[in-house]
Amino acid sequence: MSSLTPLYHPVTIGNVTLSGNIFLAPLAGYTDRAFRSVCIDQGASFTYSEMVSAEGVARGSDNTESLMERAKNEPNLGIQIFMPDASVALRALPRLLHYKPTIIDINCGCPVPKVIKTGAGAALMNEPEKIHSMIKNLKEFTDIPISIKIRTGWDDSSINYKEVASAALSARVDMITMHARTRKMAYSGTADWSALKELKQYVSYRDPNVVVFGSGDLYSASDAKEMLQATRVDGLMFARGSIGNPFVFNNTIRLLQHEKTTEPTIEEKLQVMLKQLYLMGEYAGEFLATREMRKHATSYIKGMAHGGKAKQALVQCTTYKEYEHVCKELISGNL
Ligand SMILES: Cc1cc2nc3c(=O)[nH]c(=O)nc-3n(C[C@H](O)[C@H](O)[C@H](O)COP(=O)(O)O)c2cc1C
Repeated sequence: MSSLTPLYHPVTIGNVTLSGNIFLAPLAGYTDRAFRSVCIDQGASFTYSEMVSAEGVARGSDNTESLMERAKNEPNLGIQIFMPDASVALRALPRLLHYKPTIIDINCGCPVPKVIKTGAGAALMNEPEKIHSMIKNLKEFTDIPISIKIRTGWDDSSINYKEVASAALSARVDMITMHARTRKMAYSGTADWSALKELKQYVSYRDPNVVVFGSGDLYSASDAKEMLQATRVDGLMFARGSIGNPFVFNNTIRLLQHEKTTEPTIEEKLQVMLKQLYLMGEYAGEFLATREMRKHATSYIKGMAHGGKAKQALVQCTTYKEYEHVCKELISGNL
């Protein structure tokens, strides 16, 4: 990407072209169909499923399958799988193809001990040859673009993202996203955006067709602009910064296109929150949706006057009516 390329632009990943380069990251426990749907409404260029166990896909587990279903307004979807090696990836592939993923992403960054113990997630950062072999094997059986989501390394003394990128490039990977933290950092400390710049330069030099995306510490439109300018990555993924704030997509796109950004009003925020709740209810039912929505709802109301009281009320809501009541009280200032 030259310094003349606009910061917001379409992006081609393998044989797929997407209209923009501002994505929603995979977030286990958050990026379900309902949340992805409101993020798309708010301008997200592309979305990923929560990480899905390739072993679960291979076995046809119901829980796993529901993670791969699309929202109604979601023509494209990246399905992210996690597994320890290529044999599991290949066993999962036939069932995975049934869901027609736009992109298949391999999780090489999950820091959770339960996942690491199996050799999947960030454990793969220590075994670049396994990453190579997963990509190579998948590419033999499908022309769906294959991407990987990596970290900078296992810990400070083993920063090896270039080695991992090299292994992936030689297997003809289509896209590399890096969460610019080590496994040891998990989600704490500051993401190292300078590593993103280095990765982008490294990959561009080796294969300019391979797309590099950045992740880490993106909470606002101005963060996004800063990352794109500082690192020249091809695009980025909002993660924690989008929870309770899908509006960040629209604002980012506006900012990158030199348009005025606008903060949604309380009413607008709560309307989108309720939309997400009802969307979830369509497939999960009111009982589950009202429980599952609590963690999102408390993020939507962050910073609002009487937010503390509203939070207490929201985490006890068990029906749509109760949610609607708290929203009305918040808008009228009656809490
Ligand atoms: C609750 C939570 C769940 C996550 N789940 C996934 C996941 O399933 N797959 C993945 O590749 N990354 C996952 N991540 C990492 C994010 O996609 C992102 O790379 C990371 O949060 C850094 O971005 P941020 O600092 O802007 O939040 C998760 C992060 C959080 C906080």
